[in-house]
Amino acid sequence: MTSRPIDPFYVMEVVANAQRREREGHAVFHLEVGQPATGAPAGAIAAGHELLDHDVLGYTISSGIPELAPAIAAHAARTYGIDLDPGRIALTQGATGAIVLAILAAFEPGARVGVTNPGYPCYRNMLVALHMEPVLLDVDETTRFQPTTSHLEAAGPLDGVIVASPSNPTGTVLSPGELQTIAAWCDSHDVRLISDEIYHGLIYGDAEATTAASYSDSAIVINSFSKYFSMTGWRIGWAVLPEPLAEPFDRLAQNLVICPPALSQHMALAALNCRDELDGHVSRYTTNRQILLDGLPRAGMPDLAPADGAFYIWARTDHLAADSKTLAAEWLRDFGVAATPGVDFDPKRGHKYMRFSFCGSPETMHGAIDALTTWRMRSLAS
Ligand SMILES: Cc1ncc(COP(=O)(O)O)c(C=O)c1O
Repeated sequence: MTSRPIDPFYVMEVVANAQRREREGHAVFHLEVGQPATGAPAGAIAAGHELLDHDVLGYTISSGIPELAPAIAAHAARTYGIDLDPGRIALTQGATGAIVLAILAAFEPGARVGVTNPGYPCYRNMLVALHMEPVLLDVDETTRFQPTTSHLEAAGPLDGVIVASPSNPTGTVLSPGELQTIAAWCDSHDVRLISDEIYHGLIYGDAEATTAASYSDSAIVINSFSKYFSMTGWRIGWAVLPEPLAEPFDRLAQNLVICPPALSQHMALAALNCRDELDGHVSRYTTNRQILLDGLPRAGMPDLAPADGAFYIWARTDHLAADSKTLAAEWLRDFGVAATPGVDFDPKRGHKYMRFSFCGSPETMHGAIDALTTWRMRSLAS
């Protein structure tokens, strides 16, 4: 028996090369990964210290410590003005744990599930690993790299669809009306909608992101403490489940993971009350985004997806190099700029794009823009 062939995540190669250059003593401007430069908020760290000294931190029930789901329901009420039954909220090991359990709870082997292309590669890799069929919905700038019901109609029979708004890698957002239309289409076609809302809280300008839970009780909503809450390594996220899926999801969680990390659950509870500190990070991302939006055109990249949310800019680079992998390697080797070529996110057209992550410091953004502008001047002169 052989295991299912799963695509590699090319960004990890960029990360490894960037780290090697740093070990060799070269400066590197990191714009390759969606890893906030900050750690967990101070209130969460303080709660963690306290617990380490006084709590055995044993197993919890699989859906999480009793206080956390009601606190997330209160967060949803504050953020979106909706009333969620805490019994529909399950704590998980990051959004990743939530997506795997959601897919397993919602679909049978062989299920056809639409995923946007470009999109977050783990969706299609998880579906393949779980013996399901990812159906690529090729989206482009004409719909701001987000799917419409025309994409869903054109995909043939679907069992489910996964959307992400704001999206990784494009940062684009489904407006409330667009998300509502997709949710209604899914409900009327008996297609299970999974809405990945991990980048909520990271929204810029006039963009507005709302939750699929406002529009459909059948949608599964995925969220996490990794991005806005700046707690990637603590591996804590959550799912909002349709009522009939809450129990199957819980049974899977009991058997596959037992429970999310206990310490992280308590820290996440504290993090929900750290919004001032976390909103400070969003101000920094807003500054960083503007540095890149102003600087990338000067460095020869004027064609950028609207960076409405998350902390990514998706830039067209095929007028600069036929393959963005080669370009990324050159930028890292000669200019110390680490960016992610688009192939991870779009196996068909990703070689024409580069993803820049702006969750580092403003100094890193300025340094990268200066280096890329020098690269551009030199390549124009040669
Ligand atoms: C769209 C999207 N969903 C899910 C994840 C995984 O998040 P987590 O760290 O919560 O597992 C990521 C990570 O970058 C992501 O970009």
